[in-house]
Order: sequence, then C-alpha cells, then structure tokens
Amino acid sequence: MAECAVSILNVEKGNAAHTFYDLETAKVDYFHIDVMDGKFVSKDNYDLMKDYAYTLAHITRTNLEVHLMVDDIENAIYDFTLIEPGCIMFHIESSKTKERTMNIINDLKENGVKAGIAINPATPLEDIKEYLPYIHRVLIMTVVPGEGGQKLIPETLDKIKELREYIDENDLDILIEADGGINGETCKSVRDAGCDILVSGVFIVKSEDFSINVKIIKGEEE
Ligand code: DX5
Ligand code: ZN
Repeated sequence: MAECAVSILNVEKGNAAHTFYDLETAKVDYFHIDVMDGKFVSKDNYDLMKDYAYTLAHITRTNLEVHLMVDDIENAIYDFTLIEPGCIMFHIESSKTKERTMNIINDLKENGVKAGIAINPATPLEDIKEYLPYIHRVLIMTVVPGEGGQKLIPETLDKIKELREYIDENDLDILIEADGGINGETCKSVRDAGCDILVSGVFIVKSEDFSINVKIIKGEEE
C-alpha cells in the first residue's frame, strides 16, 4: 500500500473549493500544489496556485505539500510557508549549488516545514545523495515537469528502486514520492518499485468518482 497525493494542477477554477471538498472526502492523503513560474518551466500558474493554497489552508485539515517548479525558490518559500504546508519540495536543477541548496533546506526547517528535493528524469541520484541526511522527502519526477496528463517515463522506475535500496541500506528517514503520469496502469509498478507516496493528477481529478481512483492509486483496489 502507498499514500496518495492529488495534484491540483488541473482543478477547474470555477468550482475549486467544491472539488477540494470532494477530494478530501475521497480520502486523499495530501493535496499536491504544483507551483510553476513560467521560467523554470514554461507554464506560469503561480498566482492561481497561491489562491488555491490559501483556499485549501482555510477549508481542509488534509496535509498540504508544495512542489516548487520555480527559479526564485527563496521567494516562493516565503509565499507558501504562510499557508503552513507540511512539506515543500524544490528542484535540485534550480537550487544548483551546495551552498544554496543547504541554505534552502535550513530555511525550510527554521520555518517548521519539512524539506524535500525534487529530481528530474534526466538528473542522476548522485546529484542529491549528499543532501539525503538533511531532508524528509525525495520527489522523483516520472515525467518532465511542466504539464499534467503526460505519460510516465518507464526508466524512472529504476531510479525509484535504486533510491529505495540506498535509503534502506543507510537506514535513512526519508519518504520516496513519485510524480507524473501515475494512473490505473502505472501505479502498481510505482508502488512495487518502493515508492511511499504517489502523486496523481488527471487520473483522479478528471474521474467520475474520486474515491475509486484514490483507492486504486493507494493499492486498496486493483
Ligand atoms: C507535472 C506535475 C505533476 C503532474 C501530475 O509537472 O509536477 O504533479 O501534474 O499530474 P498527472 O498525474 O496528471 O501527470
Ligand atoms: Zn508535482
């Protein structure tokens, strides 16, 4: 079994609060807030995701997590810590240097927020191993970030397996999360690869009955 984080990237603006209530009733474990600045990725939904984050902070007790796909990580952390998320994940391809990456991790901890590092499909695990003792979450991108509804890149499953082995061998207290193209066809191989939390967007948000697809993602129903 695994936990389910629903990506709110494709939630329709018109009745967002209603959709959030229904997703909470469907027993998602996390609301996954996908923040894009139009620079790190081509889509810019920054202000909309801020609105959604504030709405969620006011109406739900379900865990909120923020996936920052932005160049200006520090500014985004300021904006999104205001909603008191459980975890904020930033891209190593954006923070780049050891000094900046460690500063960001420490800044999150000082704000009482769990730190997570997101890693793109083309980036090797070697690039983040030195940070693992200091973070709570690794977000393995199973698609190239920037859009919902893409196909999972199968080679990324090997990265999940490699990270699972490394975490278990080194007895690290880190959760593995996978993100992108996770649906009824792909979720079992993602869970079997050793993933703790599965992010799913359109497979849940565009479905008739949220609770059935949430159960499928968790492995409670085939
Ligand atoms: C892509 C986002 C993912 C994605 C997940 O950049 O980080 O969270 O939207 O949505 P689906 O499940 O639709 O691929
Ligand atoms: Zn995401």
